[in-house]
Amino acid sequence: SIPELKKICNFLKGVAKAAGKMILAADPSVDGSEEKNNTSDRVTATDKAVEAMIHAELTANYPDFDFLGEESFKAGQKLSKKPTFVVDPIDGTLNFCHGFPNAAVSLALTIRRKPVVGVVYNPFRGDLFYATQGCGAVLQKADGSKKKLGLNPRPISSLNDCLVAVEWGNQRTGPNWQLRTRMAMDFMTAKKDGGRMCHSLRSSGSAALDFCYVAAGWIDVFWEGGCWVWDVAAGWIILLEAGGLVVSANPGDWEPGVEGRLYMGIAAAERQQQESIVEEVWAMMGEG
Ligand code: IPD
Repeated sequence: SIPELKKICNFLKGVAKAAGKMILAADPSVDGSEEKNNTSDRVTATDKAVEAMIHAELTANYPDFDFLGEESFKAGQKLSKKPTFVVDPIDGTLNFCHGFPNAAVSLALTIRRKPVVGVVYNPFRGDLFYATQGCGAVLQKADGSKKKLGLNPRPISSLNDCLVAVEWGNQRTGPNWQLRTRMAMDFMTAKKDGGRMCHSLRSSGSAALDFCYVAAGWIDVFWEGGCWVWDVAAGWIILLEAGGLVVSANPGDWEPGVEGRLYMGIAAAERQQQESIVEEVWAMMGEG
């Protein structure tokens, strides 16, 4: 029920704030971090400690719910249909290691594999984004003021009108990398027919925050090939509740999966405009 989901959202906001305190108190460094699969895929003791704290809080309060977290994930683990907390203790770990103040705690509740509550908190700016299905999305700023996130009032008719975000991920070879690099160049390159050259490209280093930035109307389109579910689940419901559109960049495949999916988030004033941007991006992807 909505009151129950709202209660969970409030609870997750408190957990995210506690996690944020741990992140701000940490003294991260690139040298102090460990490599996962390659030099750009890193984890710090803080990622692990924050996830352990979140896991303890969530399982103590909701013992019947499943838990899927970035740092405790085991290959083969699936996003179940049961109520599941989907957790990224620090989305933007590389930013965190380098001291670039754009990283977030990302907490979602999924039911039947769909996000229904999302909380994304960037402790460096004090931005707390949250949403409960059916209740809209809110940005609470560091000074405590709250803003309901709504449709971008700017008319957007094509990618030509858009500030676009892409992320680079940490796999730097193979077909997915080729797609990412080609798409990034294609978003930026002037076309002879005047079509499809976006205003510019941004890469904030946190997919969760990119979704929230689209929800806030600061960015119009976010495209990434190859997010994990904990990168996107919370931002997904926040953007939907702000009136945006989230689609898998694979036409026809709309559900959040655990790994390696392509996702896009789009904000525009009208659903028709959002859909036409999706078509434009799919067309670009098909041109490879
Ligand atoms: C990563 C960030 C990054 C995106 C990667 C993610 P992490 O999450 O969201 O922007 O490009 O695909 O894995 O590892 O910092 O939690």
